[in-house]
Amino acid sequence: MSVVRLKIPTKITLFGEHAVVYGVPAIATTLPVYISISGEKIGGGIIRINVGKSLQTPIYSVILSRDRISIEPDQDHMKKVLSYILTAIDVCEEYIGITQEVYGYSIAIDSPLPVSVGLGTSAAVSVGTVTLCLALNNQITDLENSKYDIAKLAWSVEKIVQGSASPMDTYTIALGGLRYIEPSAPMAHLIDIDYELPIVVGFTSRTHTTAELVRKVKELRERNEGLFKEILKIIGKIVEEAKKALINQDLEGLGMLMNMNHGILQSLGIVSIEHNIIAHMLKNVGALGVKTSGAGGGGAFVALAKSKESQERLATVAESLGAKIISRSICQKGVEILR
Ligand code: MEV
Repeated sequence: MSVVRLKIPTKITLFGEHAVVYGVPAIATTLPVYISISGEKIGGGIIRINVGKSLQTPIYSVILSRDRISIEPDQDHMKKVLSYILTAIDVCEEYIGITQEVYGYSIAIDSPLPVSVGLGTSAAVSVGTVTLCLALNNQITDLENSKYDIAKLAWSVEKIVQGSASPMDTYTIALGGLRYIEPSAPMAHLIDIDYELPIVVGFTSRTHTTAELVRKVKELRERNEGLFKEILKIIGKIVEEAKKALINQDLEGLGMLMNMNHGILQSLGIVSIEHNIIAHMLKNVGALGVKTSGAGGGGAFVALAKSKESQERLATVAESLGAKIISRSICQKGVEILR
């Protein structure tokens, strides 16, 4: 049986993280930093998963029964990656209507990023595994036409594993490009821009998982629902203004909105001290805007430069402050099947 190979982009949120969990639209984009997943069908109803060393852990080769994960030595974050893969296979097989464990799968996964840095790696794993499972079971004739189905299935994987998740990460990664996310639909509308966005994307280490940070914001909401509603309204307004600024190539306006969004994330209690220092220093050397991106607690951040030329300076300063820079551009493509 033939091997299917996939290339899956990671992503950043430009505007509206956390608020998107409560139905507010957001803006996110895919990044040219890719997770690779390949796999084939094998017999015996087992699932064999090889996780590459560039996920920044030792190489594991584990054989799992369908309802139990057991690896030595115990690694919680590895168990999490494996949970996304196994849940994606379950969700996919249920969607297709496969009821018997006639076949198993041999899956290899690799990533240049550690898991849980806030760049959508778990969504990329979910989108990738769903696409792989559909392709191996001959359910994909035209990938473009299947992308909304893939996004929807991968979103349910995230909800099962994390407890709650907005559709933002999985829809952006499945479809690709700069997207305006309407979570209530859910829809991911392409924001078609014909210029290069001079961004610098990096990350610092993270202290909490996305699920923990989403819970923290939820607790804040429970303490003062009225005020929280007003904050959501302001984030919603920032997102709408940002969409216009992106379309009009108004980089100064966009930077200002990023700084505002960062300030609101700070008021929600999810911005780390390191990110505040980075934001402050990058603005000092000319960044138009800097913000925490994604769930926070450290993790990903995005800075907007005035021009291509000042991007290097921002990257150098961020690196001198201990950040790892991973991208200076966005990418247009979502999940791809490589032939
Ligand atoms: C995580 O990438 C972004 C959050 O808004 C959570 C979500 O959208 O599910 C914090």
